[in-house]
Amino acid sequence: MFSKIRQSVTARDAFELVSADLQQVEQEISVESVASVDAITAINQYLQAGGGKRLRPALLLLCTRLFGPSTECARRLAAVVEMIHTATLVHDDVIDVAKSRRGRPSTNVIWGNHVSVLAGDWLYMQAFQVALRERNFHVLDVLISLTQMMVEGELLQLERLHRIDISEADYMELVDRKTASLFSACASLGATAGGADETAESRLREFAWNLGMAFQLVDDILDFTSTEKILGKPAGNDLREGKVTLPMIYALAQANGEERAAVETVISDGSYEDVPFPHILQILERYGSVARAYDRAHGFTEKARRIIGSFEESPAQRALQAIVELVTERCS
Ligand code: IPE
Ligand code: IPE
Ligand code: MG
Ligand code: MG
Repeated sequence: MFSKIRQSVTARDAFELVSADLQQVEQEISVESVASVDAITAINQYLQAGGGKRLRPALLLLCTRLFGPSTECARRLAAVVEMIHTATLVHDDVIDVAKSRRGRPSTNVIWGNHVSVLAGDWLYMQAFQVALRERNFHVLDVLISLTQMMVEGELLQLERLHRIDISEADYMELVDRKTASLFSACASLGATAGGADETAESRLREFAWNLGMAFQLVDDILDFTSTEKILGKPAGNDLREGKVTLPMIYALAQANGEERAAVETVISDGSYEDVPFPHILQILERYGSVARAYDRAHGFTEKARRIIGSFEESPAQRALQAIVELVTERCS
């Protein structure tokens, strides 16, 4: 059910401690997937069966475990963050006109845009409904701010689509909003569920934020260097969708007129018909852009490693260290 990332030794170190909790989280998601309209239930079940790494619920649960045993609240919130994550993916695939997700046709392909948008809305609200059961304003505050951050991020990304004059700072802002903010919210909620004090919560938030930044950078690198079989979505997708990500930002800063024109052609055609994908890879190669982007990603994992290393040693702390290694390993 789960993808490759769950099968390595590092992954075992990372997920094992919370595997029983994660099973209960799956159960919770499954129960909460049922709507009074069949199409929505069908979409939810399709999404859940598609797998995914469950990285965010694992992160949340491990943050709770740093402070004591797992709690009902942590498991519930772990289901909530996965549901929010899933809702963002459903909307994202509509916006990006994506063809596949998690190795299967994306919901927009099967059910169309209209139904997918509504199913995403329903899932967001269901996540909030579940979160509301905690009767905890801090939790709602974190989740509402987070969702707004992410939606604003998607909107900013839309505004910046098809532009090759994106700066590194513009890009980092999008990554912060799209991905790191959710990682950081997972840490915050996990710490809250574990009864952590404010200082510990804020250190964990910073840890997770850096992890999230690295995660998205690596994801954007893999979009160039990996294959559809591994990614569960076609390689070279980002540029075709008009998204200029970090490796390309680095290359464009040095590229000559001809190379810039090649990149622009892919973006404006929305395809690699005139300028084949290997040609784009050659441009990245020429300027060492992938290596530079890796370096930047490693800067974030290094920071995350340092923060989690400053927590007292425990099985949960070691598992969180393993998660950092997992994200780092994805790049090699
Ligand atoms: C996909 O996240 C969106 C990004 C932030 C790159 P994941 O790669 O964690 O997606 P799943 O849940 O494992 O499919
Ligand atoms: C992922 O964004 C969705 C969010 C994090 C909101 P992207 O569009 O960059 O990622 P993929 O490639 O579709 O997973
Ligand atoms: Mg997308
Ligand atoms: Mg997108």
